[in-house]
Amino acid sequence: TNTNILFFLAAYLIGSIPFGSILAKTFAGVDITAAGSKSIGATNVLRVVKETNPKLAKKLGLATVILDALKGTLVLLVAMYYGLSESTLWGVAILAVLGHCYSIYLGLEGGKGVATGLGVYLVLIPIPTIIGAVVWIVCAKVLKISSLSSLLGLLAVVISASFLNNGLNVGSNIPMYIIAFIIIYKHIPNIIRMIKGEEKKVI
Ligand code: G3P
Repeated sequence: TNTNILFFLAAYLIGSIPFGSILAKTFAGVDITAAGSKSIGATNVLRVVKETNPKLAKKLGLATVILDALKGTLVLLVAMYYGLSESTLWGVAILAVLGHCYSIYLGLEGGKGVATGLGVYLVLIPIPTIIGAVVWIVCAKVLKISSLSSLLGLLAVVISASFLNNGLNVGSNIPMYIIAFIIIYKHIPNIIRMIKGEEKKVI
């Protein structure tokens, strides 16, 4: 229907907003799309801004995670308010993550979908997402490699969602796997760096 299409479009356009790159440019005067991993996510904000201002880097990194997650959460909550079907909600979620990873404002470059994925999963499969977020935080503290922690957190979400059957799964976990696939696909450069032992620690 027209409402569905409107929501898909809104999800992609809102998902596309590159908060990390906007915040880093505005408050630290740096272009994170040209430095570090060139990703627009919180990790790269932290990594690049830290070189000149460690205190500001933490604040901007945190703000980036929250705003990037909210892009997905808010658009989904509005879609729920309008009573869209569960499969449409998953479509909205996928498009928000795609917008973040392939931003229309950045010539289809973007981030890796972790924070925005967190934001949409939290609404649609809350319990597995909380489990994944805990795994993510613990791994980040212990391993200090952001990409690996993200991938392990994602794995925890996918595994626990398969077991718990929690949330809106439209009788199938496929939409959840599509989002996971996008995130893993965007981490291929990180995975290659990890295999070579070249992936940078963040903290
Ligand atoms: O949240 C993205 C993270 O998993 C990896 O980011 O900048 O280290 O490639 P980055």
